[in-house]
Amino acid sequence: MIWSPGDLVEIETVRFLVRSIEREDVTESLLSWMADPEVMTGLNLPERRMSQAQALRWAMGFDNARQFFLLVCDRTTGTPIGFFTVTIDSHKTAETAVVVGDRNYWGKNVVMETRAALLDFLFDTLGIYKVIGRPHGRNLSSIYNYNAMGFTCEAVLRAQMLSVVDNDRLDQLVYGILAPEWAEKRKGTG
Ligand SMILES: CC(C)(COP(=O)(O)OP(=O)(O)OC[C@H]1O[C@@H](n2cnc3c(N)ncnc32)[C@H](O)[C@@H]1OP(=O)(O)O)[C@@H](O)C(=O)NCCC(=O)NCCS
Repeated sequence: MIWSPGDLVEIETVRFLVRSIEREDVTESLLSWMADPEVMTGLNLPERRMSQAQALRWAMGFDNARQFFLLVCDRTTGTPIGFFTVTIDSHKTAETAVVVGDRNYWGKNVVMETRAALLDFLFDTLGIYKVIGRPHGRNLSSIYNYNAMGFTCEAVLRAQMLSVVDNDRLDQLVYGILAPEWAEKRKGTG
């Protein structure tokens, strides 16, 4: 893919399109994901009813150079069903987070399919060397996905956060994958 910093991103998978958010994408359904306690529990954030203006400021703050807000859209309908955020530092390390906001799509392999294509983009097009994600210790579906994709659990930050559900202390896990590891995994040898 030919891409320059600031360009909108568009990545196709078999079932989904992963693309940079634009102003007109800041809709009620996007706002409703942030207000859904089940979705936000995965992030260990309180549910939040953002105003349209707040969400617009947030979404438009991503520059498509070092910070990306990438919607995941169902290709058959074009409808956004979730998103990735990506933040790249000056060491060619990217931190990503994912939300499948439309719960009808949970359990349908969305993360595995779309994150694979996102990793290809980050490693091959952007020249990133390492990608990390930081699920909390109760987010078993997220942990499952990181393990299944060949990420290594590099650290457990013990009792790092307070649970938004019950105020217990939660571990936070740091999962990472390096460019050569992903290349091996993709070839089916990793
Ligand atoms: C986390 C999230 C993206 C996962 O979506 P998903 O991939 O559709 O999740 P699934 O329910 O398919 O779970 C993924 C895998 O984990 C496994 N899993 C789920 N709960 C599990 C549990 N309690 N124990 C063991 N495995 C479990 C599932 O079996 C599934 O594997 P399979 O595909 O082989 O069946 C989605 O739940 C979400 O958006 N949550 C809110 C935001 C969030 O938590 N983001 C991640 C922040 S790090």
